Amino acid sequence: MTAEAMSPLKIVPMVPKVVSPAPEAPEMATLAGQAETDREVEPAVRVRGLTVAYGSTPGIKSIDLDLPERSVTALIGPSGCGKSTFLRALNRMNELFQGVATAGEVLVRWDGQFQNIYAPGVDLVELRKRVGMVFQRPNPFPKSIFENVVYGPRHHGVSNRALLAEAAEEALHQAALWDEVKDKLNAPAAALSGGQQQRLCIARALAVRPDVILMDEPTASLDPISTGKIEDLLGKLSKDYTIVIVTHNLQQAARVSHKTAFFLNGELIEAAPTLQMMTNPRDRRTENYVTGRFG
Ligand SMILES: Nc1ncnc2c1ncn2[C@@H]1O[C@H](COP(=O)(O)OP(=O)(O)OP(=O)(O)O)[C@@H](O)[C@H]1O
Ligand SMILES: [Mg+2]
Repeated sequence: MTAEAMSPLKIVPMVPKVVSPAPEAPEMATLAGQAETDREVEPAVRVRGLTVAYGSTPGIKSIDLDLPERSVTALIGPSGCGKSTFLRALNRMNELFQGVATAGEVLVRWDGQFQNIYAPGVDLVELRKRVGMVFQRPNPFPKSIFENVVYGPRHHGVSNRALLAEAAEEALHQAALWDEVKDKLNAPAAALSGGQQQRLCIARALAVRPDVILMDEPTASLDPISTGKIEDLLGKLSKDYTIVIVTHNLQQAARVSHKTAFFLNGELIEAAPTLQMMTNPRDRRTENYVTGRFG
């Protein structure tokens, strides 16, 4: 979609910046966190004054946060603090619930300019293509492995079999699943293990070539080996994609993320390079959380 086609939207000019390449796949928190402090990264998403309420229940309050491009940003905080609400606000998924009120701006880089996804006239199908989502429980459709991966491209009008096959292979490679499924693409997705199903869901999200991938506790239902595979995958994907991950596992946040944001009672308490957040947080409440004193 061109900027002109999106004309009702507020367009904020971007200041060109030299962006250094993303770091190698983080093996350790210290490497990922340190890399973040050493480089200047253009945000892919800018959140300003974002407030979400479910009727009279507050979800998140006046959040300002930049999500650096081609990086992993982890959202941490105790249960009910608004992590999922914030994540869903990034592709307007909260609107699937009745009675949700959202205020503020989510500025997503779109055709080279930041555009507020809450402005009138935004194409939600196009938005969710650019800002994809992976959920806590793998949720493959009751279809074959192949049909799961090509679901997005088909939905967006691709019908040529060769193009679909190419898209499926590319996405399955990116999701580190190709070798395990290449000989059974027509088997039902439900026959895969939980960890494979989650990588299939990641492949399905990748197949529409998003810019941003939102992941809400993507390994919460997986065993340690499958979790390790997804974490390795995040390191690789962050070279090409902007990833936002909710996790209750601080070690996971430390292993996979470059930036960490700590939420408490619907507020963003602190956001900083992960290494700094884990070792030298500014706010006492963050310190209490990362040292396990509460939550
Ligand atoms: N669909 C909904 N309808 C009504 N209230 C909701 C809804 N989703 C979340 N809330 C409320 O919004 C607040 C933030 O919830 P949210 O699910 O964003 O927290 P969370 O940090 O993701 O928690 P958890 O770690 O348990 O997943 C809570 O008070 C919650 O009860
Ligand atoms: Mg949640």
